[in-house]
Amino acid sequence: RKGGFDHYMQKEIYEEPDVFYRTFNSEIDPDFISELKSAEEICVIACGTSYNAGLLFRYLMEMHCDTPVRVEVASECRFFRPRRGSVVIAVTQSGETADTIAALNMAKAFGCTTAAVTNVVGSSVTRVVDYSLCTRAGPEISVAATKSYTAQVAVFMSVLRELCNGSIKEDLDEIHKVIEDALLVDVSEGAEMCAGASDIFYVGRGLYYPVSLEGALKIKEITYIHAEGYAAGELKHGPISLLCEETPIVAVCTMDVSYPVMLSNIKEMKARGAPVIAVGTEGDEDLDDVADVCIYVKKSTPLGEMLAVIVVLQMLAYQSAVILGRDIDKPRNLAKSVTVI
Ligand code: F6R
Repeated sequence: RKGGFDHYMQKEIYEEPDVFYRTFNSEIDPDFISELKSAEEICVIACGTSYNAGLLFRYLMEMHCDTPVRVEVASECRFFRPRRGSVVIAVTQSGETADTIAALNMAKAFGCTTAAVTNVVGSSVTRVVDYSLCTRAGPEISVAATKSYTAQVAVFMSVLRELCNGSIKEDLDEIHKVIEDALLVDVSEGAEMCAGASDIFYVGRGLYYPVSLEGALKIKEITYIHAEGYAAGELKHGPISLLCEETPIVAVCTMDVSYPVMLSNIKEMKARGAPVIAVGTEGDEDLDDVADVCIYVKKSTPLGEMLAVIVVLQMLAYQSAVILGRDIDKPRNLAKSVTVI
């Protein structure tokens, strides 16, 4: 059933070009889009990887739309009151996460319109919400979420496409190719460096902040190495004291608006002795000069490159776990769906 792959996680990462294509191509209920257009606020609630997808949605919305977006960890929602006039969107691969469903029920009690972005048609969450938005990832067997995350990002990109006309002008065939090419990127040198570490920082700016959080979550859950995602600018406000020769940094530094400041951040990290694995855009020779290991994605649109980086970070986590001989599809202490609070 693994179709020639060593692990389900690897197989599921390889499905991502098609998963993105299918999901981005599917229709979004026009009534849901009308609800969003009249919403005073959008509140996204989720856990884990799904939370990281929600955070990415917030950045995308800030770039293209005026409606404010809040993103809350579902288990903390009981400490916040949803605003009247909010549309509350739960993001949950399994559709069974207890904290997410509890937060949704609270939002309903406050009279909010509710929606779920889920991978499982007919799951508990779909019975609670007003609107269901399906990720078309197919069953995800590996405990670590990979293709379902990319599918959640695809749903959010298609919501944006419908909500803010003209905000997303991606050529789907081109994106399919960009994600496919990302599967072929050699991450072995970076994986060797990560596998030998006890602590790793993942840093990025803008869209690459939530992407870094997800990269760190992925590697920690399957390798058991302590990893933290940070907004690159936050490193100076505390964690920089931890940097030394033993703490590799995975720095996402594609040629987007944050490029110059990311490049100078990398130099600061190097000055503290930290080895840097930079993930950048092909053809960037300046990055070669400052980082210890460079992993390049193909040049594309900003969102195309972001999707490629997501895949590369998943592969980096996967290959590090292979080197360490971990039980990749079933990491210790973790369950695929968390149905208790
Ligand atoms: C990480 C992972 C978990 C889930 C989280 C939420 O790879 O799988 O962090 O993302 O437990 O699960 P769902 O999306 O099913 O609500």
